[in-house]
Amino acid sequence: PQVCWLAPEQTAGKQKPYLYTQGQAVLNRSFFPCFDTPSVKFTYSATVKVPEGFTAVMSATSWEKQKDNTFIFKMSQPIPSYLIALAVGDIVSADVGPRSRVWAEPCLIEAAKKEYDGVIEEFLTVGEKLFGPYVWGRYDILFMPPSFPFGGMENPCLTFLTPCLLAGDRSLVDVVIHEISHSWFGNLVTNATWGEFWLNEGFTITQGSGWDLQMPPACLCPGSAYTCLEAATGRALLRQHMDNTGEDHPLNKLRVIIEPGVNPDDTYNETPYEKGYCFVSYLAHLVGDQSKFDAFLQAYVNHFKFQSITADDTLSFFLEYFPELKAKGVDSIPGFEFDRWLNVPGWPPYLPDLSPGEQLMKPADELAELWAADGLNMEAIEAVDIMAWRTYQLVYFLDQILQKSPLPAGNVERLSKMYPKISKAQNAELRLRWCQIILKNNLETEYSKVKDFLHSQGKQKYTLPLYRAMWGGSESARALAMETFSATAPQLHINVQNYVKKILGLE
Ligand code: BES
Ligand code: ZN
Repeated sequence: PQVCWLAPEQTAGKQKPYLYTQGQAVLNRSFFPCFDTPSVKFTYSATVKVPEGFTAVMSATSWEKQKDNTFIFKMSQPIPSYLIALAVGDIVSADVGPRSRVWAEPCLIEAAKKEYDGVIEEFLTVGEKLFGPYVWGRYDILFMPPSFPFGGMENPCLTFLTPCLLAGDRSLVDVVIHEISHSWFGNLVTNATWGEFWLNEGFTITQGSGWDLQMPPACLCPGSAYTCLEAATGRALLRQHMDNTGEDHPLNKLRVIIEPGVNPDDTYNETPYEKGYCFVSYLAHLVGDQSKFDAFLQAYVNHFKFQSITADDTLSFFLEYFPELKAKGVDSIPGFEFDRWLNVPGWPPYLPDLSPGEQLMKPADELAELWAADGLNMEAIEAVDIMAWRTYQLVYFLDQILQKSPLPAGNVERLSKMYPKISKAQNAELRLRWCQIILKNNLETEYSKVKDFLHSQGKQKYTLPLYRAMWGGSESARALAMETFSATAPQLHINVQNYVKKILGLE
């Protein structure tokens, strides 16, 4: 299942076949013999011979092309098995910074260059200032075929990204910032087991940390109001997840027990990300001074670099680093015990303050309220100019509309006509929400939008919620699900295919 062989029709250019691998979490054991656990690290080299007209790329610190289309790769830093990745296709590259280039199929390379030119270096510089030296040499990006199941995958030296991020306005760079953060958290300091995945994901924070305060204007996300709004979107996903599963579900803790025979991918959910981020924010809150906490993070990375560690290592180091906190017994404050954070499922006992985002959320809340009313107050609605709103403010607005759905009859149709910026959006985050609204309101006339979106990409976090919504909906929605799945299944990553089959009761 690890190596994905794509037919030409499954690529953006539709001319040549493509191959890519996805190692995380435990797929690389079907690619090469290895100790396929994140607790073991090693260097590697690889010789890859490809047919004429193809290029091979890997997550490696150096590479050269020899005669006969043979590529030699070397990763000179020790990494865990899941970070070895290969892609082969009709791909070309363009420089976007002194140590960065974008790789993509020829038809996407211009868009890729435009979206990322100049900004990667700025992110790397902020990352280095906060967390210490960037040890991987280059930071390149490969834009994947549309069926790539993730937003991003932090393969060292060469992050894999979904082409959905090519929004044209840099509005989705938060994903790249997240993957760049993995250069320190995850790739350098690695969770020793998949049961403590939050050590990889929870530390890749962008809000409240130096990231958003020091971010250059070029990334279009300066200031904390907007990053708080983005964080609120993440928190809403955690709320949804816990409502769906029940707060006390065993996966809703930071330290998860993964029994032998269970695929870690099947334990994947929002908890390690969002609750993990809350715990890291709580640690920062205990310290009280962001710059002191940033210094701790840098010392932490330096202390554990190239190692695989457990949460106990992290927390012991934290208490050693701040002896005055240790003396105060901060690890056992009733209700906030470190042990409770790790081992008790449920809603985080501490939530970072997102109130700076309220200035952006309030108008969106109010507008959603207006649209949910029985008789529409068009005067009040028209007085709000959403043209000035940025992507995540629109996303937040749509999440509120979705929560209030189904709306009174006719309202969604009017909303659709009034805001082509939303209903005809090309931005994947907006399209996802719009499709969810269509389904929750059972707007059959707009079903083609759901179908088009699912045909255009195969990201797991977009695909599964839409199939769940269709399957939980009307007869016609269920028919749409079946029809769409039978047409698109061969394009989907095998894991995603299997998850959809489960939703549709096909397995
Ligand atoms: N490493 C993850 C992707 C992943 C997790 C692959 C588990 C396989 C198993 C990556 O860094 C990630 O978290 N990607 C997110 C984007 C992010 C902004 C939350 C994604 O793909 O949605
Ligand atoms: Zn991640």
